[in-house]
Amino acid sequence: MWMHGHNLAAEVAENYRDFAAEARGRSRNYEVLAAAVADDPDILGYLETLPRPKRQPNLLFAAARTLHGGPVDAGQLRDLVRDRRDDLRELMLTRRTQTNEPARCATLLPALARLPQPLALIEVGASAGLTLLVDRYSYDFAGVQVAGLDPLAPTLRCEPLGPVPIPDRVPEIAWRAGLDLNPLDVASQADMDWLACMVWPGEGDREQRLADAIAAARRDPPVVRRGDLLTDLPDLAAAAPAGATLVVYHTAVLAYLTPDERDRFAAIMRGLPAVWLSNEGPGVISGVPVPPHDGSPFVLGRDGSTAVALTDSHGAWVRWPGPDGW
Ligand SMILES: C[S@@+](CC[C@H](N)C(=O)[O-])C[C@H]1O[C@@H](n2cnc3c(N)ncnc32)[C@H](O)[C@@H]1O
Repeated sequence: MWMHGHNLAAEVAENYRDFAAEARGRSRNYEVLAAAVADDPDILGYLETLPRPKRQPNLLFAAARTLHGGPVDAGQLRDLVRDRRDDLRELMLTRRTQTNEPARCATLLPALARLPQPLALIEVGASAGLTLLVDRYSYDFAGVQVAGLDPLAPTLRCEPLGPVPIPDRVPEIAWRAGLDLNPLDVASQADMDWLACMVWPGEGDREQRLADAIAAARRDPPVVRRGDLLTDLPDLAAAAPAGATLVVYHTAVLAYLTPDERDRFAAIMRGLPAVWLSNEGPGVISGVPVPPHDGSPFVLGRDGSTAVALTDSHGAWVRWPGPDGW
């Protein structure tokens, strides 16, 4: 029994140490917090009482920020674990690590704009639906501007690498819908506060961009249905209007499925009259080739078989291949 508890604490501590390494250079606050948790027997003891998927750093830190009303330091985190353990537990058990990064729209835009217009968009794993609003945002591709339909929506900055076909206008979206296991409601302040707490402290303009995108979504909220991409997609696809190119896409979603589930999703996609755009880590969609790359970008794949572009996982750049390849 002692060995079991000991091993578990060591395993949780190691997760937090790994997370501290991941946060280095991205969020000093999370780097310091994660390292402190890894050495704190009380916080580790608390985490051990949670189910395994609920012990993650992102969840603990976002829950602590929600209770505290802003980023916490290690001392404040210790106090919360000691004094508000039940509130912390309740939040960590009911909430999920669920992000929504509007900037990913910039990496999808060139591919979407090349399809026959108008488009009917279905995003699976749409979260709050902020990545469904491709036509509302404006874009700045290293000085080349594309004007969005909502002048108050944020301008997404994205560095184009290689011959990216930057469109001269946003795509025409005739219809759009999202599907998510747990849709977040842009009208709910608690849901949007949670989304904001999922952005790591110190990640530049991400927080402001998110706030501006939420404001844009609230002016004309996207529909995100509750459902599972493995069971509910054909029904949603049947609701799309005729006369528009149906596009099913996902970004930072399929990695959460097992390889077997991803194959099942690919089979569903093959059965639908839709263009399939996948924006996921290399190798997540098994049929999409992985172009040579540095770091850990996403691969924008088409129809489960072609690599269209390499993309920054948070939308900061997009690379299309030249005539001689990547
Ligand atoms: C990391 S978020 C990405 C959200 C959004 N696509 C973006 O790029 O900002 C992943 C989303 O996928 C959803 N998700 C995970 N598995 C799913 C499934 N089987 N069916 C539907 N949605 C799922 C989660 O609930 C979550 O909202």
